[in-house]
Amino acid sequence: MQINNVLITGVAGFIGSNLLDYLIEKTNWHIDGIDNLSTGNKNNVSNHLNNSRFVFIEDTIGNMQSLKKYDCIFHLAALPRIQPSFEFVTEHITENLTSSMHLVELMIKENYFPKFVFSSSSAIYGTPKIIPTPETEEIDCLSPYAFQKYEVEKYLELLSTRYPLNYVNLRYFNPYGPRSFNPANKFNAYSSVVGIFLYRHQNGEVPLVTGDGSQKRDFIHVYDLAKANYLAAINDKILNTAFNIGNGDTLSVLELAQKISPNYEFIPKREGESDITFADITKAKDLLNWFPEHNISDFIKENS
Ligand SMILES: NC(=O)c1ccc[n+]([C@@H]2O[C@H](COP(=O)([O-])OP(=O)(O)OC[C@H]3O[C@@H](n4cnc5c(N)ncnc54)[C@H](O)[C@@H]3O)[C@@H](O)[C@H]2O)c1
Repeated sequence: MQINNVLITGVAGFIGSNLLDYLIEKTNWHIDGIDNLSTGNKNNVSNHLNNSRFVFIEDTIGNMQSLKKYDCIFHLAALPRIQPSFEFVTEHITENLTSSMHLVELMIKENYFPKFVFSSSSAIYGTPKIIPTPETEEIDCLSPYAFQKYEVEKYLELLSTRYPLNYVNLRYFNPYGPRSFNPANKFNAYSSVVGIFLYRHQNGEVPLVTGDGSQKRDFIHVYDLAKANYLAAINDKILNTAFNIGNGDTLSVLELAQKISPNYEFIPKREGESDITFADITKAKDLLNWFPEHNISDFIKENS
């Protein structure tokens, strides 16, 4: 499949803006990026605003009328925080499920089915029984956020029995990297733990470890996530399936805090969060030819 024009939803967010950097550098594609700036930051894409290959659309997905010009859609826009999804329930349903389905419904109305690369989450496994966790693991959503991600996956599967959808679900484990922490984001207290710890450390504050810190996370660099999106887009043979995108190892949250600072404090455990995330990435290696290139220790050394 020849790709010329793509859409990134949520382009002003953490992962969307890093995906934009990656695609500008590695491809010659024309990229539209839509973001309503509800939690994103236009500064995240400011270095590309004068690039003729990039158009920033400040709008909400629900206002999109057509997808016909795109060969591929990278759908990242969401409210991606577990704890707020317990409180602002309808807002999360709207942003995480209804907005996603608006895109799919446009495809159905226009009878036009571009590649759809959906940003899903390892949260749908809950606390998994199989470690490391393959894509075949039982789904066990512990939060509304996880459930909404799973609902999108399930709708894609169901609708593909009637329409020629062409989608790939990328189940991200625990992303870190540049721009992961946006101080202006109303939900920033719940953003990626690496970003929060580093931000606090850089501002003279100690990391706050939830629970006893024994919960383990599979941390994956955002560059590696961007590469997975790209490889999913260009792969013609991969259709309507899901991939784990993690590093394939784990670090406990306490170990993470200790890598960043000799001093740290404990705060109460939060419900709805998994005890362990640890990706079996065999499928992505075998079928997407994807493998992680980055190491969290290097990132911490460079940024603390
Ligand atoms: N960061 C993580 O820990 C993590 C883990 C697993 C999966 N994911 C998934 O990756 C994707 C990107 O996450 P992120 O960390 O970059 O989040 P983010 O909050 O930094 O970015 C999301 C962006 O989407 C925008 N947005 C939200 N609703 C919108 C709408 N209706 N129309 C237009 N724009 C809208 C926001 O303004 C924001 O810029 C999400 O789908 C998330 O569920 C993230």
